[in-house]
Amino acid sequence: MFSPRLLITASVAFTLGMAAFAQSNAKQANSSKAAASSADVPSTDLHLGRPATDEEIKAADITTLPDGTGLPPGKGDATHGKSLYASKCASCHNDHLEGRQGQYPALAGGIGSLTSARPVKTVGSYWPYATTVFDYVRRAMPYDHPRSLSNDEIYSAVAYILFVNKIIGENDEMNAQTLPKVKMPNRDSFYPDQRPDVKSKR
Ligand code: HEC
Repeated sequence: MFSPRLLITASVAFTLGMAAFAQSNAKQANSSKAAASSADVPSTDLHLGRPATDEEIKAADITTLPDGTGLPPGKGDATHGKSLYASKCASCHNDHLEGRQGQYPALAGGIGSLTSARPVKTVGSYWPYATTVFDYVRRAMPYDHPRSLSNDEIYSAVAYILFVNKIIGENDEMNAQTLPKVKMPNRDSFYPDQRPDVKSKR
């Protein structure tokens, strides 16, 4: 059976696999560095690239963790999110966040359907954290213009999605303090990874 629990275990395993892969690559890079220096070919002679500036690193470093670490300053609510949604999201996700069958996912509905024969996975029914919805919209949406929204717009868009899913109120302000406190309906259905070295928690 295809269960959400299996899914998260699989994605954690995948992430761990990638980390192991990166580590073994780093080892290889170190050993070829050693080989290069023993052959007296300093890598600076290649004149490739330059160190990234602090601004460049800051611009690329946009990860928001489930506990809210990394959320930027700014604020928004569903009232502002509603008009933003109409102009920048509805063309794909449809007027009532119901999605367009087969093409664009629904962002609302399906709460309580996950154990049924036809689970409907949306932000409201499936996602365990509101903070990672912020992360996702910030880096990937609108699909045709990613990274084009201001922080206030992202907070507003997320607030609107949460409001339509009846998870927060219309005037609840979402910001770096309030968003991590939103309890998503499906959060407790995910198993934290039980391996002791992972130290995962809800
Ligand atoms: C041009 C079409 C398009 C527009 C405009 C668009 N999206 Fe999306 N959106 C998509 C597609 C396609 C996906 C699925 C992407 C994937 O699975 O790789 C998606 C996925 C999402 C998801 C994740 C849904 C899930 O449960 O997996 C969220 C949240 C989301 N969009 C929010 C927004 C918001 C907010 C806006 C407006 C600011 C927006 N989108 C505008 C096409 C669009």
